[in-house]
Amino acid sequence: MNESLRTPAPEADEAAMLLAELDRQMIRAERALERNTLIDVDNLEVRYGSNVVLRDVTFDVPANQITAFIGPSGCGKSTALRCFNRMNDEIRGFSMNGRIQLGGQDIYDPRVDVTELRRQVGMVFQHPNPFPMSIHENIALAVREHNPRISRDELDGVVEQALVHANLWDEVKDDLKRSALALSGGQQQRLCIARALAVRPTVIMLDEPCASLDPISTARIEELLLELVADYTIIIVTHNLAQARRISDDVAFFLMGRLLEFGDARRVFEDPLRRETADYVRGAYG
Ligand SMILES: Nc1ncnc2c1ncn2[C@@H]1O[C@H](COP(=O)(O)OP(=O)(O)OP(=O)(O)O)[C@@H](O)[C@H]1O
Ligand SMILES: [Mg+2]
Repeated sequence: MNESLRTPAPEADEAAMLLAELDRQMIRAERALERNTLIDVDNLEVRYGSNVVLRDVTFDVPANQITAFIGPSGCGKSTALRCFNRMNDEIRGFSMNGRIQLGGQDIYDPRVDVTELRRQVGMVFQHPNPFPMSIHENIALAVREHNPRISRDELDGVVEQALVHANLWDEVKDDLKRSALALSGGQQQRLCIARALAVRPTVIMLDEPCASLDPISTARIEELLLELVADYTIIIVTHNLAQARRISDDVAFFLMGRLLEFGDARRVFEDPLRRETADYVRGAYG
């Protein structure tokens, strides 16, 4: 029998598969170094019960860039985001396959400290959700959770720094004891960003952070994100395509649980590879 037609032994098959996998990992590692990848998502699949809501999702988030997730309602943007700090863990029926690495570490490794992961990967939500307490206490509470022995003076310094960093300090410095609920929506959202910053995260994820804000407050948040990206890695989910165009470096376009297109924002908006992306970015459906 011709050598090339002979069925290979099962071990040879396995070895070939292992080599191919090794090859793939090497290529990804080289690319990660080139792009200064912070989050590496490899073949992510997510189910809620038997419902597959994300499949074949592979991409990487470079450090100190803004990556925007766009796509119609229900396509899996928030689900993908919540995988990055394991917020989905608490959802009944949630299961996932594939791998997500943060700084080269598998975040689903059983040895991972989930509280520490959530400190590193902070989250800001669509509706500003300050606690019903003072401005100072909103931030102090988050800081004490991770650092219970922090001194009063040190804590005051951290609170001030976070508010300065979130461009809110000048508006609130005269009365930090005021209730956070008395702030405007835009100020509340900046307070929530300050709260996320106060625990010194690496990544800040924002899920439609401007959805309930007026254009001026939205512009202030956008300016803030463009400043913060020097020190943090930012992922933002947005339905506002003009916003994604204005502030993002990379764009991930999701459609029905698949990552249809990923890449440089300008390229995705101006010269999309897929017809579906072109339709979405010119507003044909949403
Ligand atoms: N807790 C949950 N339990 C079961 N199914 C869920 C849950 N959360 C989301 N889903 C389903 O997963 C899919 C993706 O939802 P997801 O919230 O990630 O979409 P999205 O892109 O963020 O949408 P939107 O733009 O409306 O916020 C949807 O079909 C949704 O119904
Ligand atoms: Mg969502």
